[in-house]
Amino acid sequence: MKANRVNHVEPTIAPNEHPYMNGAWTPNYDEWDATDMEVIGEIPSDIDGVYVRNTENPVHEPIGRYHPFEGDGMIHAISFRDGKAEYRNRFVRTQAFMAEQEAGHSLWAGLMEHPRRSIRPGWGAHGNLKDASSTDVIVHAGKILSTFYQCGDGYRLDPYTLEQFGMESWTPLDGISAHPKLDERTGELLFFNYGKYEPFMHYGVVGPDNAVKHYIPVEIPGPRLPHDIAFSENYTILNDLPVFWDPELLKQDIHAARFYPDIPSRFGILPRYGDPSSIKWFEAAPTYVLHWLNAWEDGDEVVLDGYFQENPVPGKYEGAPPELERMMAFLDQFLLQPKLHRWRFNLKTGETREERLDDEILEFGTINQRIAGRRNRYCYSAVPKKGWFLFTGVAKHDFDTGRSWALDLGPERYGSEPAFAPRVGATNEDDGYLVTFVTDMIEDRSECVLIDASDIEAGPVCRIMLPHRISSGTHATWAHGEDIRAAAARDAA
Ligand SMILES: [Fe+2]
Repeated sequence: MKANRVNHVEPTIAPNEHPYMNGAWTPNYDEWDATDMEVIGEIPSDIDGVYVRNTENPVHEPIGRYHPFEGDGMIHAISFRDGKAEYRNRFVRTQAFMAEQEAGHSLWAGLMEHPRRSIRPGWGAHGNLKDASSTDVIVHAGKILSTFYQCGDGYRLDPYTLEQFGMESWTPLDGISAHPKLDERTGELLFFNYGKYEPFMHYGVVGPDNAVKHYIPVEIPGPRLPHDIAFSENYTILNDLPVFWDPELLKQDIHAARFYPDIPSRFGILPRYGDPSSIKWFEAAPTYVLHWLNAWEDGDEVVLDGYFQENPVPGKYEGAPPELERMMAFLDQFLLQPKLHRWRFNLKTGETREERLDDEILEFGTINQRIAGRRNRYCYSAVPKKGWFLFTGVAKHDFDTGRSWALDLGPERYGSEPAFAPRVGATNEDDGYLVTFVTDMIEDRSECVLIDASDIEAGPVCRIMLPHRISSGTHATWAHGEDIRAAAARDAA
């Protein structure tokens, strides 16, 4: 292996027993470049692009209680071409990260603390958080865009070199939420934000040239906590779900998410460039959904797949330290019970139909993004570990036959959100590789694993050893080499 430790960020954090600062969540502070890594198997010559993952790595001793979604964002990227791979990782140099580097300590308290404990005004729907840019990652117009789930600025990096270009220039004043969605067919990026002040939500479209083409307010009844949006070829699907901050406590600036089971879930469907009056609202069974899989149009209906939580506000996590039991509960998918679910919204009649697709507890799913917005046959989900925000395997579903398959990654091996990398020249929807980083706690190392998506039970076709053991984290994505090169050519022209 040719590995070069290019930088080290010195933490000020004291050794501790926080469940999400140890074990597979032990933060990283070294930044590496690596080539010629040890490979078990052979890197296929027909994979071309970059797998990018965001993670949370707290550098400074937190002010009060730490939530793993607030750690400083670090991007891990592995690129493939011509049977070779390169790996890099870098902290995202957000304004907040740089300010704390200068101060030498934390400046912002987290979501579980009262906002007045923050030393400086902050970001986010909540209003006083650090913009950690650590939640989500997507590649648009040839650049990585990293985002923070509570709404932040959005940061751009080169997908191959991880060179940093700073704040996304088009970020609106209210920020952007995690999960802007890319329509690879058109190159458009659909984004949203949400907050505590009217109009409580906005929606927008950025063109393939990375310029904002559309930005509208979305009228909803009050502060809400939407985490994700979906799109079909012609429509965008927004949501107003009955899990939100208790309005009475919010008057005291206390942010406590509650489930209101008497309030229906609401879905706002509008044409991609629709104005506020064009949003059609549909009602459905009350729930919370963290992530949608895909949406498509079927006659008069818009069909939406996602993970329906049966128990959206799970209460206490038995056995956790008392000050962390609520946080631990919200991180345990086996308590939230998200299950594959389908909604059908009839644009003519205004009716909603719902259908459970599987009873397994799954989340963090993906599809072949080349067909996003159109009907997909297959989906790939992460299989969570009971009690923990960790993934022990992947599951594949075939919606045509109803069949499903699963691959367990092995004892004490934890994957990241899988992404689908189509094989160069592929024609079938599942002709490609599932890519994930795996942290192996027994071997004390991490690797990138490629799995044949058409036969996941056969196990990895290739394992590439990374220069260090990396922390678990949140979202990951695949970017096609041909798309990145096309964007670079456009920029150069
Ligand atoms: Fe997410």
